[in-house]
Amino acid sequence: MSRKVTKAIFPVAGLGTRFLPATKSVPKEIMTLVDRPLIQYAIDEARAAGIEEFIFVTSRGKGALEDYFDHSHELESSLKKAGKNDLLEILRSTNMDSGAIAYIRQHKALGLGHAVWCARRLVGDEAVAVILTDDVIMGEPPCLQQMIEAYQETGGTMVATMEVPAEKTKSYGVLDVAEDMGAIVRAKGMVEKPKENPPSNLAVIGRYILAPTVMENLNKLKQGAGGEIQLTDAIADEIEEGRDVFGLRFRGQRFDCGSKAGFLQATVAFGLARDELKDEFSEYLADVMAMRRAAE
Ligand code: UTP
Repeated sequence: MSRKVTKAIFPVAGLGTRFLPATKSVPKEIMTLVDRPLIQYAIDEARAAGIEEFIFVTSRGKGALEDYFDHSHELESSLKKAGKNDLLEILRSTNMDSGAIAYIRQHKALGLGHAVWCARRLVGDEAVAVILTDDVIMGEPPCLQQMIEAYQETGGTMVATMEVPAEKTKSYGVLDVAEDMGAIVRAKGMVEKPKENPPSNLAVIGRYILAPTVMENLNKLKQGAGGEIQLTDAIADEIEEGRDVFGLRFRGQRFDCGSKAGFLQATVAFGLARDELKDEFSEYLADVMAMRRAAE
């Protein structure tokens, strides 16, 4: 079977309650890190990894997200007339080719697994990447590219993983490790948000490459489920059924932009990484810290 991955699912149908009241009218994925919305970081990462088809699972109130990818002819021609070629270039980098982008509606927020399942007909019988836009990753090469390169070696299903302190494991899906091969680990189980006795400190974060059989597992879960449908359960079923699931310890720094503290940390890190901002911004941060210390 070919190990090419050309499609990615972006589940963006969540309610984003942790960012209320902002998310009352602004989709979380449109919120801005420095000068680009979260969704742009995710799209850039997918493009760098060779993704050609972008499938968004959206919901009510996400119109601004769909508009974001439209060509803005008026704006483009006024920038062109004004000779603002650098801005024109930035604007054009947000354009998507016709037919490269598809929107599917998740009618009810029934969980991440359900959101992924909603895209099944667009995915067909091939491996697909899943990117959670909340998890913004600073890494070179970008995280999904690292994963696709590792997947060429391993096949199966692959999740991005990182070490977290033991007391934080209860906030993540956690891998039960069968074999540790360095950057890649083979999983023998996966537990969603373990309250106690986590099987390891390897947390799963928002990047996945799913074998086609994961969609079949989601189909079964869909039929049996009352509440939320977890992607973790469908991946854990792969292991139960004797198929390979791997975790990749990616190189890079992940920010949980679904939380306020994570979003602020990302703003600082991405601000400091920008040539045009870093001097002024780091001076400001140093002043703030000095004032805080003086006040203590
Ligand atoms: P979160 O757990 O962060 O939920 O979802 P959320 O609704 O976005 O945010 P809070 O917790 O209310 O603040 C993780 C990812 O899964 C998607 C979300 O859009 C987000 O990208 N998701 C979650 C769906 O697409 N559908 C769902 O039913 C649930």
